[in-house]
Amino acid sequence: MTAVGIDAIEIWTGKLQLDLPNTFAPAKGEDPEKYTKGLGLETSSFPDTYEDIVTMGANAAKRLMDRRDLSPDDIGRIDVATESAFDNSKPVSTYIAGCLEQVYDGDFHHANKGERKFACVAGTQSIDDAYNWIRAGRNRGRAALVIATDTALYARGDPGEATQGAGAVAMLIDEDPSVVELSTEQGYGSADETDFLKPNQQFPSVDGKRSMQVYLARMREALEDFESVAWDTHPDDFEFIPFHTPFPGMVRKAGLLGYRHMIRGTDIEDDLEAEIGRQPRESEYDSWDAYEDAIRDYMDELKRTDRYRDWYGETIEPTLGLARRVGNWYTGSVHVARAASLKHAAEQGVDMTGRKLLVGSYGSGAQAEIHAETVRDGWADEVSALSIDDQLDRRYDLDFDEYETVHDAHNHDLDAEIEEFTQPDGEFVHTGWGRMNERKYDYVE
Ligand code: CAA
Repeated sequence: MTAVGIDAIEIWTGKLQLDLPNTFAPAKGEDPEKYTKGLGLETSSFPDTYEDIVTMGANAAKRLMDRRDLSPDDIGRIDVATESAFDNSKPVSTYIAGCLEQVYDGDFHHANKGERKFACVAGTQSIDDAYNWIRAGRNRGRAALVIATDTALYARGDPGEATQGAGAVAMLIDEDPSVVELSTEQGYGSADETDFLKPNQQFPSVDGKRSMQVYLARMREALEDFESVAWDTHPDDFEFIPFHTPFPGMVRKAGLLGYRHMIRGTDIEDDLEAEIGRQPRESEYDSWDAYEDAIRDYMDELKRTDRYRDWYGETIEPTLGLARRVGNWYTGSVHVARAASLKHAAEQGVDMTGRKLLVGSYGSGAQAEIHAETVRDGWADEVSALSIDDQLDRRYDLDFDEYETVHDAHNHDLDAEIEEFTQPDGEFVHTGWGRMNERKYDYVE
């Protein structure tokens, strides 16, 4: 069977940054270490006044198309995943196609376009749709463009304000891919949950603590489901495990849970027995609560072992390098984590070809999805072409008053007109609204 997967990746960050320990924490009267040590964040990205989900998505897509010398005829499908859509009917992909048609010869009139919604897991679901479309032989030799783009803003004063972000990831899904091949096997953990939602409102209603429990519960179910169709996973099977990363502290919890699950009944559990005992088994306890308490105690011990710390440092920590600097990008977040891990490997000179990733996506509401990926031999060239470090270094650093003004400027319910902080340079910008309240965009040389 021909391999299908991610052939190219481009990342576009919002052009402003908020420094969490040095700007946000003092203004909120909080300890900076809550951000650096607790949540694991340094800065978050914000969109300038002329940026939105369309400009960021179109700019990521244009970089990708330019770099791979693609024309609209090469693309048979454009799917956008977002939680920040501003229209309940017209999909963001049509706006992005319209932007791209301003700068390329030809058009996307024969490409299938859509918008995927299931909170942050929608980016991965769009990749699935593209994979299935290619596998079904409906692509006529063309590739799919998947764009995950979000402005992850919370109402001012909401605890979620600590975990904001804005940016887009564009991915080309194709046969014989350069970056990773996707496994056919997938695991799901899905349930009707009320932890994070936006019922016809711009900023989310969030039960933060519950959202973290739901994330972990669904992720565990997804891993079990993946193992039921793939194999019993072992920590050494994977070079990296990129998770959906609302903030790195969340992944610290997910990594420990995953490791505990994967070492059960393995050589690692045996090796650790003298140090921390064996994992509690449900049959040894009178009640579920007693069993859960014992598991929690075991995990507390486990996370202090050198064996676990070394594994975490090698397998999980590298996935968080970009998230610490950009915050939560919702649908793009897990794809930023994958890119961060491959970027780290390239910088360390590791040959990743043939090695495996386990990818854990998650969307509130709630659904987790887990699949494996096998790295392909074009990965290093692709990852080396990313310009994300330069983009991050060039962001305008907001002071707290400016942050509040930018937040207001992006609030759909306010009419705040402010000057931009940066100058657009070779990119799409939002210029205003048309006669039917549609958004208008131009390419600025
Ligand atoms: N030094 C070191 N650590 C500190 C500290 C300090 N001075 N102060 C606090 N901390 C630690 C806390 O102990 C905590 O860590 P643990 O969870 O490991 O105990 C961490 O920093 C955060 O502190 P708080 O829990 O006090 O923070 P908070 O009450 O302000 O809320 C939050 C944190 C719930 C994540 C909130 O930011 C939020 O609601 N975020 C949005 C929801 C979210 O991201 N949920 C994640 C799962 S849902 C999902 O993944 C979908 C999605 O993308 C939204």
